Amino acid sequence: MEKRKIILDCDPGHDDAITMLMAAVHPKIDLLGITIVAGNQTLDKTVVNGLNVCQLLDIDAKVYAGMPKPLVREQVVADNVHGESGLDGPVFGPLHRQVEKTHAIKYIIDTLLESDGDITLVPVGPLTNIAVAMRTEPRIVPKIKEIVLMGGAYGTGNFTPSAEFNIFADPEAAQVVFTSGAPIVMMGLDLTNQTLCTMEVIERMEAVGNAAGKLFGDIMRFTLKSQFECFGLEAGPVHDATCVAYLIHPEAFETQDMFVEIDTNQGPCYGRTVCDELNVLKQVPNAKVGKKIDTDYFWDLVEECIKKYSDVYVGAK
Ligand code: BDR
Ligand code: CA
Repeated sequence: MEKRKIILDCDPGHDDAITMLMAAVHPKIDLLGITIVAGNQTLDKTVVNGLNVCQLLDIDAKVYAGMPKPLVREQVVADNVHGESGLDGPVFGPLHRQVEKTHAIKYIIDTLLESDGDITLVPVGPLTNIAVAMRTEPRIVPKIKEIVLMGGAYGTGNFTPSAEFNIFADPEAAQVVFTSGAPIVMMGLDLTNQTLCTMEVIERMEAVGNAAGKLFGDIMRFTLKSQFECFGLEAGPVHDATCVAYLIHPEAFETQDMFVEIDTNQGPCYGRTVCDELNVLKQVPNAKVGKKIDTDYFWDLVEECIKKYSDVYVGAK
């Protein structure tokens, strides 16, 4: 089976953790490394969360710490959704896993330059790490097979009425990435909000009866609570995991080629992904934008990934 080589760039984060869980175990994905960025919480916290998830699930991919702050704007975090730790809910034991000494930017650059152009970047947090890597070493851009990212929306935002969190948290970085010329698949809120996890889904995953199912339950029980408190929603989306699902089975997705610009003007639309859905500008599209996902497929895939952890040794942590 041909595996997609990926670098997962994330800010764990509840849905980031589920994305790690899936990417690490699915036979169609070759998880080369995990790079961490500040986003849902400050970098010190997102790194610890990433390491905790790797330790709990015996994920052997190396973890690299990246950029602690956005390029230009003041830092914002999503503690309203993810809590004070950035991954409130699950309880982890003492942490022994360590972050690599190499900086995430160096890791991304070196890995891409040494590659045959067959590596896909999967950024599911603010795009700071990817933008800094591109600006530091522009020769990586033609080496990128594809960027499959979670961020933005052609409809309304979730952090401001106009902007989705990952793009709002570093609009200038998003601008660098969307104008880079690298092929982009954008899973925005319009699509990711379709992955609404209900209590029924949580009980289905917990019923698998292993550490991965319990982690999913602990994560999504907290998410359900915070989504209700923040947005009045009765269920919680697993935004970031759609990127890995797309790489495994793109046929389950409907996308549309669009020209996407990032609004970097200070004002109510700062951080908006302006998507030319009707092609009124007649520009060459720079992104495939997700529109629909087959949610039955999505939950079957999540369950399939969780079940695979029953075959993997998960030690007492
Ligand atoms: C995105 O923002 C974060 O809070 C989530 O992890 C996801 O990447 C959704 O807007
Ligand atoms: Ca995220």
